[in-house]
Amino acid sequence: MGKSLFGKILTILVAVLTVSFSVTGVLLGVGLNRLSADQKAEQLQMVAEKTEQALEYFLKQLNGFSDSILFTNYLESVAENSGSIIWVARTDGSLLFYSSTPKSVIDSLEKNDEGWYSLPDEWQDEPLKRGYSRQSGDFYGLFRGTGEEWVTVSKYFSMPDVPPFGITAEGIILVHSKLPTMRNTKYSVPRIFLISGGIGSLAALLLVFVLTRRLVRPLAEMKQAAGRIASGDFNKRIAIRGEDEIAELSRSFNYMVDALENLENTRREFLSNISHELRTPMTTIKGFIDGILDGVITSEDQNAYLSLVRDEVKRMEKLVNDIMDLARFQAGETRLNITVFDINENIRRCVISLQHMIVNKNLELMADFETERLFVRADTDAIQRVLLNLLHNAVKFTPEGGKITVRTYAKNKVYVEVEDNGPGIPEEELPHIFDRFYKADKSRGLDKTGVGLGLAIARNIILSHNETIRVESQEGKGSRFIFTLPGADGPDEY
Ligand SMILES: Nc1ncnc2c1ncn2[C@@H]1O[C@H](COP(=O)(O)OP(=O)(O)OP(=O)(O)O)[C@@H](O)[C@H]1O
Ligand SMILES: [Mg+2]
Repeated sequence: MGKSLFGKILTILVAVLTVSFSVTGVLLGVGLNRLSADQKAEQLQMVAEKTEQALEYFLKQLNGFSDSILFTNYLESVAENSGSIIWVARTDGSLLFYSSTPKSVIDSLEKNDEGWYSLPDEWQDEPLKRGYSRQSGDFYGLFRGTGEEWVTVSKYFSMPDVPPFGITAEGIILVHSKLPTMRNTKYSVPRIFLISGGIGSLAALLLVFVLTRRLVRPLAEMKQAAGRIASGDFNKRIAIRGEDEIAELSRSFNYMVDALENLENTRREFLSNISHELRTPMTTIKGFIDGILDGVITSEDQNAYLSLVRDEVKRMEKLVNDIMDLARFQAGETRLNITVFDINENIRRCVISLQHMIVNKNLELMADFETERLFVRADTDAIQRVLLNLLHNAVKFTPEGGKITVRTYAKNKVYVEVEDNGPGIPEEELPHIFDRFYKADKSRGLDKTGVGLGLAIARNIILSHNETIRVESQEGKGSRFIFTLPGADGPDEY
């Protein structure tokens, strides 16, 4: 049980309950004991006061010490009523009067030279305290034999003009009482706390059981779903309840399943696209070779057919290379070789490599450069690839006599635009043209050589530079591809 979530929460809860109950119990016990000691002391003060009044009356009115029996009796009854022991001592510590006192205490009192019981030396050594004072414990060890804790209230008194000689009587009234404790009673605090702690723990058990079941259910569902996903079944989603962290986790889990499903679908699609794109040229090549071997294609025609075969092989080679590049960029394996270079120079080189096609289609090519040289910080080969793909598309899709403009300018970043006045891209196709193997419907007729990887590769390259690429296009009017690059100071600019 300790290993399950239920067990862990239960253990924590019971531990917290036990600790908090015992701490509260102990603190409350101490507090209550102190409170009752305070109350007791207050009561003892009153007893001391009463005793002082009686003593004064006894000394002044009843003519000296002759009636000491009477006073002792009075002392006895007050002591009995208040559950205390009353001593009247002189300032030198000798006991003049005392109510009944446990034998063990009397035995440990010493007698002085005059034969009086007297308070311990430690008491006598202390300076005389005027007014009230209070002490708890065993009163200099005198009460140790009783095995209980005592509280003692002392009151100093001084009575002038005591007849018959008008002397001043001075001394201390000591009132002792057992300190009331709650330790042994039926309702002792620790006991109450033990019982209520037990009941609390039982309630906690029930609560934790219900709560953890609710908590654990989505987790169990997730575990089950994860197993199914591992075996290729993406249908299961977790029901989301409430708004807590578990709900959040369930939501993320569902999101992850969506993403996985998506990924799996793209993977399948990707594979089927590749096989399709490879099968077509292979069928053609096979057909031609069979024709040559069977003699259906005459030796005069063979060269023409072989050059067709070479074109198909070239196409397959480009396809395989493109797929490899795409995979590498997507996996983030390609380390970018970042340098500072002149983007305008790269554009010029691209145009030269496409010169042949541009001239053949009688296209007008405009270079609209804001400055003669424009330096960027990027991987020059990769950017060359992006430019070539964009320019190649523009040349491919723009009809004869069309116009292509390449524009570069710097704002907060460097912007590169490739614009044409070709057929444009239908609005509903725009979100997809950067997808792998995506070819707009129309281009299937216009361009038979492409497989739809050029823009996907371009986007991956730009994204791996942490930059952006986007397209603006209107059907029938043309397209404009815009990408950004980080600008840089040229090596010869100071
Ligand atoms: N300048 C453009 N004008 C019109 N349509 C375009 C233009 N550029 C791209 N497209 C559309 O976007 C699709 C995807 O372009 P992409 O470059 O990825 O593939 P492709 O050129 O067909 O093949 P590949 O580049 O792999 O040889 C194209 O098939 C075309 O439909
Ligand atoms: Mg292309």
